[in-house]
Amino acid sequence: MNLDGLKTTAGVDVRAKRVLVRADLNVPVKAGKVTDATRLERLLPGLRDLAGRGARVVVISHFGRPKGAPEAEFSLKPVADKLTELLGRPVAFASDCIGPAAESAVAALQPGQIAVLENLRFHKGEEKNDPAFAQALARLGDIYVNDAFSTAHRAHASTEAVARLLPAYAGPLLMEEVDALRRVLDRPERPVAAIVGGAKVSTKIPVLTNLIAKVDKLIIGGGMANTFFLAQGVNVGKSLAEPDFADTAREIMHAAKSRSCEVVLPADAVVAAKLEAGAPARICPVLEVPADQMILDVGPKAVSHYSDVLSRCRTLLWNGPLGAFEIAPFGEGTFQLARSAAAATRAGRLTSVAGGGDTVAALNAAGVTGQFTYVSTAGGAFLEWLEGRELPGVAALIRGPR
Ligand code: 3PG
Ligand code: MG
Repeated sequence: MNLDGLKTTAGVDVRAKRVLVRADLNVPVKAGKVTDATRLERLLPGLRDLAGRGARVVVISHFGRPKGAPEAEFSLKPVADKLTELLGRPVAFASDCIGPAAESAVAALQPGQIAVLENLRFHKGEEKNDPAFAQALARLGDIYVNDAFSTAHRAHASTEAVARLLPAYAGPLLMEEVDALRRVLDRPERPVAAIVGGAKVSTKIPVLTNLIAKVDKLIIGGGMANTFFLAQGVNVGKSLAEPDFADTAREIMHAAKSRSCEVVLPADAVVAAKLEAGAPARICPVLEVPADQMILDVGPKAVSHYSDVLSRCRTLLWNGPLGAFEIAPFGEGTFQLARSAAAATRAGRLTSVAGGGDTVAALNAAGVTGQFTYVSTAGGAFLEWLEGRELPGVAALIRGPR
């Protein structure tokens, strides 16, 4: 797939045209209020640009995981209200994303106005990538813009089929996301390091396998490091580990070696008897984890070793926390390394790109999100990209109308 084939609406006359924008309005909502508007904020420039150029902007999105029928708790109305507030101008809302309600809301739009349509997943056709449902969506637009990179791993009607029915373009946020990933994976300034953390090796095997072929240093943290220790015959006490994947860990280390990718594992750890806020914790070398203790974070020696590795790299890709960061004091390893990557980025020595739900939460907790070169709004889509997979939503934009 040639990503240079992605085109934006720059240079396209959108005046008075109905532009169907696939956005990702899937944001956290509690008691009718949006609790984290990051995804919405990142969408604003694209919406303002289209409206400013006189387009009639029709925003479509899923929200949560309803089962193909309307459910009040999954209405996009509170999200549309938040969007109104952020844009500082009225946004129309239609109670359905296809059919008469949608069609009349779209017909009422003047050039420069914006409407949000109700949750796409209130229709079974969305997740089925159903051609008839895609046709009903396509009737609402003259052109289609996908600005929802974070849903591009789904081959759904609003991300795949509809892109094959209308002239299809990439929105600025989708472009930004793809560019950031290409910058670290396809044409990085070397050496390039990847930090891969998270609980389990089993969920990240394709990521690790893809990355060892692309990066010079692979820093492994989180629960998955424990499986690598098991693979080397190191006793990890009560730590979370996956003995069934010890062979896989060995194969990954072997493959890394043959590709001159250095796998970096923590030398010390923060251990406790249980994962509990304020549990008595201590630092010990990984080779000396007591039988009744579990590894819950990387230790200070590991953090300074990792920082040192980063200080010799020019590019960093980060996915997954190094410890149980949600529970104090087990976030310190992740937070300190995040601060050190942020400092290197500020100093102009490092290009840093991070993504994945937990990773972003950890960077937010460390207070450094704004200091990375790029932080993705995507979870699953970011991960699938790291696996080297083609994302259907991106591929459909490149292939264009059938
Ligand atoms: C996300 O939040 O990861 C995206 O909006 C995709 O949502 P989904 O996992 O329900 O498809
Ligand atoms: Mg998801």
